[in-house]
Amino acid sequence: MKKLIFAITLLLIVFTVIIKGGPQPMSSQIPSLKDVFLQDFKIGVALPVRVFSNSMDVELITKHFNSMTAENEMKPESILRRDASGKIYYDFTVADRYIEFAQKHGMVVRGHTLVWHSQTPEWFFKDEKGNLLSREAMIERMREYIHTVVGRYRGKVYAWDVVNEAVDENQPDGLRRSLWYQVIGPDYIELAFKFAHEADPDALLFYNDYNEFFPKKRDIIFKLVKEMREKGVPIHGIGMQQHLTLADNVGWIDIAIQKFKTISGIQIHITELDVSVYKSRSPSIIYQTPPLEVLKEQAEFYRKLFEIYRKHTDVITNVTFWGLKDDYSWLRFFFGRRNDWPLLFDENYQPKPAFWSVIESVSK
Ligand code: XIL
Repeated sequence: MKKLIFAITLLLIVFTVIIKGGPQPMSSQIPSLKDVFLQDFKIGVALPVRVFSNSMDVELITKHFNSMTAENEMKPESILRRDASGKIYYDFTVADRYIEFAQKHGMVVRGHTLVWHSQTPEWFFKDEKGNLLSREAMIERMREYIHTVVGRYRGKVYAWDVVNEAVDENQPDGLRRSLWYQVIGPDYIELAFKFAHEADPDALLFYNDYNEFFPKKRDIIFKLVKEMREKGVPIHGIGMQQHLTLADNVGWIDIAIQKFKTISGIQIHITELDVSVYKSRSPSIIYQTPPLEVLKEQAEFYRKLFEIYRKHTDVITNVTFWGLKDDYSWLRFFFGRRNDWPLLFDENYQPKPAFWSVIESVSK
């Protein structure tokens, strides 16, 4: 009887191995992303604060990443508070945990973000009576905010997304009509960089945006950043968010990087990388589980992407994924509730085909 049970167990193991195409490696046995790309660029990850109290998450983070971004916790709406009398104050309790974690584990922090039309309280732009502030009062408010936040993390946050998503390719001047633009005017962008530089002269300061490789938007960003550099505005880099889908044109990404790097002294950070398994933001068919051929297509996409990034290690100094594992991704709720598998690790902390093709891109 014992022999029979043993034989059946053995058979089951052999079958599992054959069906799954080999034993699943434990995440501790796989190569570390940050080590594999040590000579190329930092490898970062965007995190919600809850991961710090989950030991499995902590293990995955510290194994693979040497840079981190707070997914929401350093945005103005997470830091800004107002008391009953309308007086503005700041709450850094959650944001501070990122700095502590990073210091404990030898990671750098990308600060995200200071000046943005989204996730900034509307009252920040208004006086006690609810009227929009004057240009002068708003500039002063921005100065104080940037000085306080960047000043607090001076020497601790190595790069800031100073201005996020200010470009709108459908406006005649290419600039989004945000409250920042409406209250201050187009020079709010350069003022933000000036204030950030005053607060931490050693921090790297970035302009960050999405769809940044689409030709029209790319050219507006290029002009904006180039003109600021030529005027002596303290801007050091372009953040390419890289929220991608399988339909995106990787050739355009290569061209955008080539173009951006002609601006002298500019670095590039890939700030928010993910690759949706769909071909549009509103797909007609939603998968219950990701088909293997789609995961393979995604892996091929990631391979091409990393081959391009590695061609430009002279300017790309950080590649950050927007999320730790598939089930933590913003794509699961932001464009409507929908399954997606945009990252390198699955729900069970296991590396996906995309992980292996990213690793393999280095041997080329
Ligand atoms: C997203 C977060 O991932 C979500 O949790 C939040 O609900 C909305 O913002 N561009 C950015 C990021 O610069 O800050 C956004 O993050 C994703 C798009």
